[in-house]
Amino acid sequence: MPAIYTILFTLLPLLCSVAGHKEPKTPQEIEVQRSLQAAAYHCAPAVAEFTASRKRSWAQKVLAGRPSLPGYEELFASGTYADTINAPGDDQSLLSCSIAQETEIRNNSCVLAPEVTEGPYYHSAGHPIRQNIAELQDGLLLLLDIGVIDVETCRPLPNVLVDIWQANATGHYAGRPLPHPHLRDEKPQVGGKRAGLLTAFPRTIPEETFLRGAWPTDANGVAQFTTIFPGYYTGRATHVHTKVFPRWTALPNGTFTSDQLAHVGQFFFDDEVNLRIDHMHPYTTNPIRNTFGRTRNWRDSLNIFEDSHGPEGQYNPVFKLDLLGGVISQGLIGYITMGVNASASYDNFWKG
Ligand SMILES: *[C@@H]1O[C@H](CO)[C@@H](O)[C@H](O)[C@H]1NC(C)=O
Ligand SMILES: *[C@@H]1O[C@H](CO)[C@@H](O)[C@H](O)[C@H]1NC(C)=O
Ligand SMILES: *[C@@H]1O[C@H](CO)[C@@H](O)[C@H](O)[C@H]1NC(C)=O
Ligand SMILES: *[C@@H]1O[C@H](CO)[C@@H](O)[C@H](O)[C@H]1NC(C)=O
Repeated sequence: MPAIYTILFTLLPLLCSVAGHKEPKTPQEIEVQRSLQAAAYHCAPAVAEFTASRKRSWAQKVLAGRPSLPGYEELFASGTYADTINAPGDDQSLLSCSIAQETEIRNNSCVLAPEVTEGPYYHSAGHPIRQNIAELQDGLLLLLDIGVIDVETCRPLPNVLVDIWQANATGHYAGRPLPHPHLRDEKPQVGGKRAGLLTAFPRTIPEETFLRGAWPTDANGVAQFTTIFPGYYTGRATHVHTKVFPRWTALPNGTFTSDQLAHVGQFFFDDEVNLRIDHMHPYTTNPIRNTFGRTRNWRDSLNIFEDSHGPEGQYNPVFKLDLLGGVISQGLIGYITMGVNASASYDNFWKG
């Protein structure tokens, strides 16, 4: 069996308090962060096993000797890892960080995603319920395998809505192609926590929805998406935003509504992978490529990348990536697991 070409993974989960542009300030807000973090540590072994199961399943199905990209239906078939995740009541076996059998697949350490700011580009009415969020955006194929566990039980959470949104290959969010007219010549901020940032672009094309979408986790607590690798814009490390809604209702127009928000966070990519993708079309056409360039993870403004590793640096907000085919241009699959409190409903104090 060929080795799995693991591109990189070594991540540390995140938990952050950098609100998009606002940090939790009240003692109560800080306490919420603290207790989530403590609970998440407790679940770390379960998360490691959860992720390892998903990777094992993937490896058996797709990567083991298969030269070409399989059809999406097969990729996204449900029940795939029913046999690798234990039956209910078997919590202890899930709580083992030992992935000793993982010889081919690189271990994932124990990954969780902490709370960070939602930033200025969320569209509260209008994220469609769909798995393929790419629309006609050009870029490197990226499949996302996002697991959600409940930090209270360390068990995977089925039927919670995972909502994601991201910039396109040249750093633009749907509906927001241009800066405010009076800020056309604005230069990114110099120095300080907001270094590199521009004023948020306004929403001028309300009907655009590319690279935004939400999908419920399956019976195994996993939501899978088809998208493209995100591009960069000034001041921010390359990232994908997420929110998790345990209680939600689909609307007739294909979007959803929810009265329970359990998580707000951001996912990142290994800087070395970003570096390679910088050299691929259409990422090479990013208008700031030769001026400000891509912000490296460790220079992320507002400390978002840093904060996403949690107060003690124990979280990993970085996707673990594998090649989908024989070469990188055939695309990547990224795995990550979020630990959320399914019974909590937070005010979005991370809102920017
Ligand atoms: C994962 O692999 C690294 C490097 O091989 C090793 O140092 C680490 O202890 C492993 N972690 C787990 C949870 O097995
Ligand atoms: C979908 O319907 C809801 C409820 O009527 C509405 O608030 C929302 O703006 C609609 N979204 C879109 C994209 O049409
Ligand atoms: C990204 O979106 C912007 C704004 O809609 C658009 O001008 C640009 O062409 C898009 N980038 C790519 C690579 O399609
Ligand atoms: C989860 O939320 C419930 C309800 O708000 C709360 O009682 C509990 O302490 C929270 N657990 C953690 C680990 O934050």
